[in-house]
Amino acid sequence: MNIPRWFPDEVAHAGPEHLDPAYVPGYDRKAGTDPTDDVGLLRDLGLSERHTLVDLGAGTGTFALAAAPYCGRVIAVDVSPVMLARLEEKAGERGIANIACVRSGFLSYQHEGDRADVVYSRNALHHLPDFWKAIALRRIAGILKPGGIFRLHDLVYSFDPGDAERVFDAWFAGAASAPEDGWTREELETHVCDEHSTFAWLLEPMLERAGFAIQDVAHSPAGVYSAYTCVTEG
Ligand SMILES: C[S@@+](CC[C@H](N)C(=O)[O-])C[C@H]1O[C@@H](n2cnc3c(N)ncnc32)[C@H](O)[C@@H]1O
Repeated sequence: MNIPRWFPDEVAHAGPEHLDPAYVPGYDRKAGTDPTDDVGLLRDLGLSERHTLVDLGAGTGTFALAAAPYCGRVIAVDVSPVMLARLEEKAGERGIANIACVRSGFLSYQHEGDRADVVYSRNALHHLPDFWKAIALRRIAGILKPGGIFRLHDLVYSFDPGDAERVFDAWFAGAASAPEDGWTREELETHVCDEHSTFAWLLEPMLERAGFAIQDVAHSPAGVYSAYTCVTEG
């Protein structure tokens, strides 16, 4: 693909920590993600060994590696070579061979072969401002087969703007005290200040406009994380 000159440099917006060889080895412990529920959900929705799954912003591969035994092919896409190197190392340690790592991004990934059955993305879309989210969501719909599933998790704000101070105060109060154990108050403040989490009531029409039917939505009680299961219309 010839990427237009007016497209952003996705690496420049990837979050400097994700490119930092000193940060990435501690990422899995810090994130503490358990992929079991998402793997189970997608299997309940029909994910099988015949299927291709693309994980966009796959990071160190916590989800992609857990899903791989239940898929035919997994493509783990991330703009960070450091994150992908850790993912490849983990795949080697676990003997997982049906996973391909592609250094690319939401706005640049070129899908090859049959269209995907499932696209998954967790806590990565907020690296794009809203205009670019809308472009990325259209590209994701184009990767999927008709009836394909898009499972999206992200830091999404499901509150009214007037409640921002109250919601963020409560969120920051529960932050980790040490960076190796989770996200600290300073890191959460940086997220709010510099990254591009959007409101649920903006993201949802963007998903629909991109050609998705939203089948399920879950907003965290704190109002700062949301998960969506969407299906391409077709
Ligand atoms: C917070 S990590 C989440 C990683 C993984 N999905 C998880 O849940 O553990 C965000 C990831 O998004 C990647 N990323 C940032 N901007 C991206 C883009 N435009 N396209 C693809 N990946 C991107 C980063 O390199 C990083 O690996």
